[in-house]
Amino acid sequence: METIIDLRSDTVTRPTPEMREAMKNAIVGDDILRDDPTVIRLEELSAELFGKEAALLTISGTMSNEIAAMIYARPGDEIIVFSESHIYNLETGGISALSGAQPRPLQSDSGAYDAAELCRAIMPPGVQRARTRLICLENTFHLDRGLAVAKGRYAETIALARKHGIPLFMDGARIFNAAAALNTTVADLTGFCDSVDVCLCKGLAAPLGSLLIGSKDFIDEARRIRQRIGGGMRQAGVIAAPGLIALTRMAGRLAEDHENAEQLRSGLEGLGIRVDRGGVLTNIVNLDICPTGWKASLFADRLSGSGIKVKVCAEHTLRMVTHNDIQSRDVAFVLDKIGSMLRERPQA
Ligand SMILES: Cc1ncc(COP(=O)(O)O)c(C=O)c1O
Repeated sequence: METIIDLRSDTVTRPTPEMREAMKNAIVGDDILRDDPTVIRLEELSAELFGKEAALLTISGTMSNEIAAMIYARPGDEIIVFSESHIYNLETGGISALSGAQPRPLQSDSGAYDAAELCRAIMPPGVQRARTRLICLENTFHLDRGLAVAKGRYAETIALARKHGIPLFMDGARIFNAAAALNTTVADLTGFCDSVDVCLCKGLAAPLGSLLIGSKDFIDEARRIRQRIGGGMRQAGVIAAPGLIALTRMAGRLAEDHENAEQLRSGLEGLGIRVDRGGVLTNIVNLDICPTGWKASLFADRLSGSGIKVKVCAEHTLRMVTHNDIQSRDVAFVLDKIGSMLRERPQA
């Protein structure tokens, strides 16, 4: 059956007709020679939006994250990460493989570090010690939960980083979702960071691309490292053109995705399903179907038979993500299907 509602991720969004038109008409040049005006415009606009000096277009969030790690750390150094973060779990061990640093994972429920734990994790000087070279943040936090983390939650982390002279890097793949949910700007949420990664191809619906943003020196070095790992691009204006639409038109509509996610959450609760309610939520719905007696894999299979795709996280938990290709009526349809499934005998 043809898939009609894909809630697995906001990465499944297809470029809008306006983006496709912009790709067709993009003025392009060889970007390795800095001849592509559309790429330059996108990089300048994103640096301006984030209140930083410069930006670099890369292929993916993963590439931006790993370039940052390679710039800040050398083999034998240490990078502090959240144990639930993308950079630690879903980048094929990139930190250790590419920068040679070892990640030191710390657990967090809120998306902020516990100050005492962070303090212990920062290595003291010593002949036997690795050097802590970077502290990574992620906002929204946790790709199966999508928590928007307010700037104030980072106060102790910022103080510790400053005290020890350790840079702060933010994986802001969904930072525009965080800004929409917290009713603030991306510059406000990331101003204290030395550098930031933001993705164009998630809620912002561009077909691909990410921006690494920071100081001019940092971006000059990032450009060299991107080249080293084969990420230099030629007529990349065809990627930058939809990216410009993502930043200028799509960021403003993310509140709609958050409303649809909330419609989904309350509807699911009405059906007796537990949903994650901790913190300021965005477009990711994390549900626990344990009370219904269903197993997540069977639940997902049955939904798939009705043209609804969801992601299984664990034995009883799933993720549903709203995005530009999901309307309120789709949410109503999904809730209706789940209601019908649950009225059947619960599955063991
Ligand atoms: C929080 C976070 N960071 C980074 C990435 C990596 O982005 P990409 O898939 O473009 O490499 C993702 C992808 O889903 C993500 O969720």
